[in-house]
Amino acid sequence: MINKVIKIAVSIALPLCFMGCASSNDTKKENEVIEKRVETLLRKMTLEEKLGQMNQITSYANIEDLSNLIKKGEVGSILNETDPVRINALQRVAMEESRLGIPIIMARDVIHGFKTIFPIPLGQAASFNPDLVEEGARIAAIEASSVGIRWTFAPMIDIGRDPRWGRIAEGFGEDTYLTTVMGVASIKGYQGDSLNSPTSIAACAKHFVGYGAAEGGRDYNSTSIPERLLRNVFLPPFEAAAKAGSATFMTSFNDNDGVPSTGNAFILKDVLRKEWKYEGFVVSDWASVSEMIAHGFASDETEAALKAINAGVDMEMVSGTFFREAPQLIKTGQIKEETIDNAVRYILRIKFMLGLFDNPYVDEKAPSTFYAPSHLVAAKQAAIESVILLKNEKNTLPISADVKTVAVVGPMANAAYEQMGTWVFDGEKEQTQTPLKAIRELAGNNIQVIYAPGLTHSRDNNAATIAQAANAATKADVIVAFVGEESILSGEAHCLANLDLQGGQSQLISALSKTGKPMVTVVMAGRPLTIEREIEQSDAVLYSFHPGTMGGAALADLLWGKAVPSGKTPMTFPKAVGQIPVYYSHNNTGRPAQRSEVLLNEIPIEAGQTSLGCTSFYLDAGFDPLYPFGYGLSYTTFQYGNVKLSAKELKETDTLVAEFDLANTGKYTGTEIAQLYVQDKSASVTRPVKELKRFMRIELKPGEKKTVCFELPISELTFWNIDMKQVVEPGDFNLWIATDSQSGTPVTFKVID
Ligand code: NOJ
Repeated sequence: MINKVIKIAVSIALPLCFMGCASSNDTKKENEVIEKRVETLLRKMTLEEKLGQMNQITSYANIEDLSNLIKKGEVGSILNETDPVRINALQRVAMEESRLGIPIIMARDVIHGFKTIFPIPLGQAASFNPDLVEEGARIAAIEASSVGIRWTFAPMIDIGRDPRWGRIAEGFGEDTYLTTVMGVASIKGYQGDSLNSPTSIAACAKHFVGYGAAEGGRDYNSTSIPERLLRNVFLPPFEAAAKAGSATFMTSFNDNDGVPSTGNAFILKDVLRKEWKYEGFVVSDWASVSEMIAHGFASDETEAALKAINAGVDMEMVSGTFFREAPQLIKTGQIKEETIDNAVRYILRIKFMLGLFDNPYVDEKAPSTFYAPSHLVAAKQAAIESVILLKNEKNTLPISADVKTVAVVGPMANAAYEQMGTWVFDGEKEQTQTPLKAIRELAGNNIQVIYAPGLTHSRDNNAATIAQAANAATKADVIVAFVGEESILSGEAHCLANLDLQGGQSQLISALSKTGKPMVTVVMAGRPLTIEREIEQSDAVLYSFHPGTMGGAALADLLWGKAVPSGKTPMTFPKAVGQIPVYYSHNNTGRPAQRSEVLLNEIPIEAGQTSLGCTSFYLDAGFDPLYPFGYGLSYTTFQYGNVKLSAKELKETDTLVAEFDLANTGKYTGTEIAQLYVQDKSASVTRPVKELKRFMRIELKPGEKKTVCFELPISELTFWNIDMKQVVEPGDFNLWIATDSQSGTPVTFKVID
């Protein structure tokens, strides 16, 4: 056995580095130059030109009309223009024909790739690999900037605990720490080492804030997040994004406790500007300024503009009320000119930092960066690492070399468009590798592939073709069934009240399982689905959140053991919709379930009511979700042991070192994602039963054992206490190092004064 000690510290304590991360004298000087240029320009600007900078419009076909607006200085940013020739033409008008020659910042939703599509962010989160997220964002920036896009509306770092919400696909899941780490990695990837590089694009931390807690998982809905929960759970990823230098923030659509984010001075001014000292600019979401009228928070556009500007929104996306309404509001003194000046300062600063004044144009003739071989390799690796092995009985996976005939079934087996997932404005299905294509390539002449889709798309319900597919599958040694969701069933505004497989897919799985053949189910979806029954009917299950361009190649490698699954669930998988919200980091309650309670079918008829020993659980769904957060198997097995802490009593200034052994006890080289959870056992307010504080990917060969340690500064155990202060409270803590959020035995330590 090999026995090594490796020390890994993954810290999220980030330096304040907004104005460029290198704190060299050169950077300081550059920043001073930028500040001077901003002030000089600002002094020359008319009110209309200032309000023009605060105005973002969407691109449209008539280039003359667009040019006229730009010429008059009425446009600060354009979104959704992707033709480099038009981008340059519009930029030329801004630079050469507008009075002050202020460049336009071109924006686009580049969410998980521009042309080369990576797995949806929820899938990337399943990799627990921030390097991979950073690389994906870097590649997206290289491809997008090559057409002149210099601003993306990503990452979405909303905590999402409700898979009914379609946008769960676009975020990094339910956990604050995982989302924080992935959000920072993604910002680094988009923005590169310096915003000034022509391949860097400005990131946008969105949606500020609370959007993921929409009531009932219905998009755009109200949220009710009290300040302590906001600060403990929803704000930390945004604070880290601000500190990592995210060039922009976007306000969210929701109203929290009665206040729409776009008009919320508490979050935009008190928290973002005063507490976090943020110096980038804040953009509204699409028409979220004028939508404050529908919210019932403003009676008309004038009041909407007034509330948004005074709350701290710097740029308005598409609804144009700032430009139209602010002049009269300034005249009447309801908005101070100083407020407008500050907003414009923030915007101009980012334009200078992006180098747009000095290098406004994109090289239209540069060789294409799209789908570069290295991009495809990275996208494939990301897809491999984002797949979660949920079940593997009878060693069904990897598929044995003895298998000579495989049946490839299901509507997602050859759905090039659908497997790219939500937000793929620019991805092309023609470039996408489907599982069917990849399996055929891998099979060559050695394995016979029977392709019988059974259903044409995920909502198809054709009993006759299901029967045909099941019949065809009887001729195979192994069945691989690809089911899931079409891409349009998740993403913005695509929420679902029912999370079962759509259409006839359940019937398809049932029919296939009745063949008695070994069956692997591969789910490609934008969210966790309620698939308990289908899992029972399958011998092995791989869960692949929409995996993108290279998804098919990644899945084929995993199915045949050329790669070994390592992904872990980035959010809890519910058994039934009625369990939602269900997440690992809940509070204990005064009556936690004991697991000895009587369930629905065990209750005697005419049983009498008693409150003695009653606890918190569902009679029909029991105590647990389908899969807990952090869950995922491998083709090999891992054993944890010997968790040792560097000290039993620590002060706030100390760093805890938690050491443990991890052994690969199986037959394959594999990567385990070890997770460290902490519980503050008693505090001035109730605290979650567990909180993820660290994770680490560890690769081990068969028989290999490593002694590994996590470092955790005690200062990272802060929370917002009864006095709404961010503190570490002395007292007892539990700590687990385990394979998922539901496993392991705790060790204890104490924080002392
Ligand atoms: C609305 C979405 O909520 C936001 O995330 C997106 O960036 C904008 N539309 C722009 O497309």
